[in-house]
Amino acid sequence: MKQKIVVVGSLHIDFVINVPHFPSPGETVVGSNFQVFPGGKGANQAYAAAKLGGSVSMVGQVGGDAQADWLKKNLASVGVDVSAVRRDPKNPSGTAGISIDPSGQNQILIMPGANGTFGPAQLKESKEILESAGIVLLQLEIPLETVEAAVHLANKAGAVVMLDPAPARDLPDSLLHLVDYLTPNENELAALTGAPPSAGIGREHAVQRARILIERGANKVIVKMGPHGALLVTKDQEHFWPVVSVEVVDTTAAGDAFNAAFAVALVAGKSEMQAGQFATAAGACSVTRQGAQPSMPTRNEVELMMKVSGHSAQSGF
Ligand code: RIB
Repeated sequence: MKQKIVVVGSLHIDFVINVPHFPSPGETVVGSNFQVFPGGKGANQAYAAAKLGGSVSMVGQVGGDAQADWLKKNLASVGVDVSAVRRDPKNPSGTAGISIDPSGQNQILIMPGANGTFGPAQLKESKEILESAGIVLLQLEIPLETVEAAVHLANKAGAVVMLDPAPARDLPDSLLHLVDYLTPNENELAALTGAPPSAGIGREHAVQRARILIERGANKVIVKMGPHGALLVTKDQEHFWPVVSVEVVDTTAAGDAFNAAFAVALVAGKSEMQAGQFATAAGACSVTRQGAQPSMPTRNEVELMMKVSGHSAQSGF
């Protein structure tokens, strides 16, 4: 398997406020601790994978504003190749408004900006980078037709495709057929299978819903269940990765840490089982700190978390 991890996706400026509780419709809530972080599910996954030691290229688009350089510089600071991050001078960089409640849960609103104009024609400029990939990480914060075009290129190049269906939206079966790992959280799994959004649905329900996606063509589904761990469902197998309980500060980007760590472990030649343990531990590390990219762990931190979880034998790689 080729070592290169290519992330095709979004870059955002995250505007974060801590709130005592999430507002109801029409309610004004007084928040505190306003902070601005580099984010976006694509950029978070690229940043996390590089910080864990992966060789990573980011493919995407920032806007014509001054913050665009800051978003790219932050990725480059951990070694991400940002040569394929284009600029769309006619639009602002993507932004996210994030509120965090005292339990560390979040609510996120996004405004795509330049991510929304990153079409298949722009993606084509990065064809060679995609062809060099061992694994391609995707999410749904850029146009769906761009995601589809990237998946086709990745398939042609023989790369593993990991699609994070976030934010959830209807996906054609033709796309599901080309995805190796589909990685929803519980809410996204519910949305993808026509159920009302719900977290904490339990393993049995998660397996049933994941099987609906497998019947529609998805190869393997990994359900990210937050404090309850993660679940791998394939045509003929189920596996559960438990997670150690940690003090939660901010759950933002825990799913991004998971996908990045899974990819880093896979390209390093680890088994799916080991990759899942590593990824679950990375997700747990990330919730102990505030912010998206600032919360991403080092490999040492993940290995320490694995030891605490009793997986020391599988760490070091
Ligand atoms: O997954 C977390 C990310 O979702 C945030 O960084 C925010 O930008 C949104 O894209």
